[in-house]
Amino acid sequence: MKKQNTSLFITQPSLAPLDEFVNILSPAYSSGILTHNGPLVQKLENELCKKLGIKNLVSVVNGTIALQMPLKALQLKGEIITTPFSWIATCSSILWERCRPVFVDVDPKTFNLDPSKIEDAITFRTEGIMPVHVFSNPCDTDAIDVLSKKYGLKVIYDAAHAMFTNYKGKSLLEYGDVSATSFHATKLFNTGEGGACITTNIELHEQLKRIRFFGHNENKEVVEDGFNGKMTEIHAALGLANLEIMDRVLYRRKEIFELYYDKLSDLDFITFQLIDKSSYNFSYMPLVFSSEEHLHNVEKELNKHNIFPRRYFYPSLNTLKVVSQYSLMPNSERLAQRILCLPSYTKLSDENIDHICSLIKNCFNSK
Ligand SMILES: Cc1ncc(COP(=O)(O)O)c(C=O)c1O
Repeated sequence: MKKQNTSLFITQPSLAPLDEFVNILSPAYSSGILTHNGPLVQKLENELCKKLGIKNLVSVVNGTIALQMPLKALQLKGEIITTPFSWIATCSSILWERCRPVFVDVDPKTFNLDPSKIEDAITFRTEGIMPVHVFSNPCDTDAIDVLSKKYGLKVIYDAAHAMFTNYKGKSLLEYGDVSATSFHATKLFNTGEGGACITTNIELHEQLKRIRFFGHNENKEVVEDGFNGKMTEIHAALGLANLEIMDRVLYRRKEIFELYYDKLSDLDFITFQLIDKSSYNFSYMPLVFSSEEHLHNVEKELNKHNIFPRRYFYPSLNTLKVVSQYSLMPNSERLAQRILCLPSYTKLSDENIDHICSLIKNCFNSK
């Protein structure tokens, strides 16, 4: 099979034409206003609210800070129930706010925290739940809501993957006490680095704005234990430019997902995440192999052809000594060992997808 000339990585940022970014940025260059909740940051927040159909959004420097800020705002100090099948930032944000992550296993079909296992993990020290909408697949928000009310727990959704996903008639970002999302370069919508906190509680929204700005209120008095979480005008300009191409990005991501699915769904050794296509943004293309050996074979074969999928999420966070004492999470561990995300980004061509799928198929035909 022919070798790929240029490498294909798991993703490439979706970027607006450079001159559009420069046009949007140039007033900031002239005025010298580069940060401090400037006009571009305010415009980006307004435009995002409009496009997402949400009321409030506090932009910040990255998605990890967006997870830490609500933990601080809600003064959570004890145990936070969370998922081991996530990126390390879910867990490290909890640790950095001096709380203790308590893992609960995932549903192997949806990849999300299994709500039927949460109750057993609740103790008198539990103060919150931090579930993740994995690859934008909505968590069982109803079940989590019932538990949070029953035990008086706060819910902070790690919605890093969940931009432009609607669930039960509204944005997935409007569930829980707060949702934290990421605008990292690898995400569906990007500002290079960036993120946001979303809450429908206006007092909490105002508090998050103060925390982002060293704890200052509008009169520049320090009234809160805050830090510097502000997004710059440069990042906001990139966001405003990228927002213009969002409809095309969403359309192409879905097309790519469908193409892969059509070519790979009849293979016995691969399964897919259980999703409802109307509540999914198609920003990732995860495959689950029937064994880790199958995954290794495919990864090796693709790498030989300059194609670099990514084991994501891997490893299962409960196996990392730096974050907690080991506790067995069989579903998450088995999933993390067998999952591989294929390249998915707007510039990926149909031919690229054909090539990747043929390599995967051949890999098994030749065994
Ligand atoms: C599930 C999840 N949570 C949190 C983060 C952290 O976001 P950021 O990289 O913007 O800090 C990421 C992405 O990297 C992520 O995938």
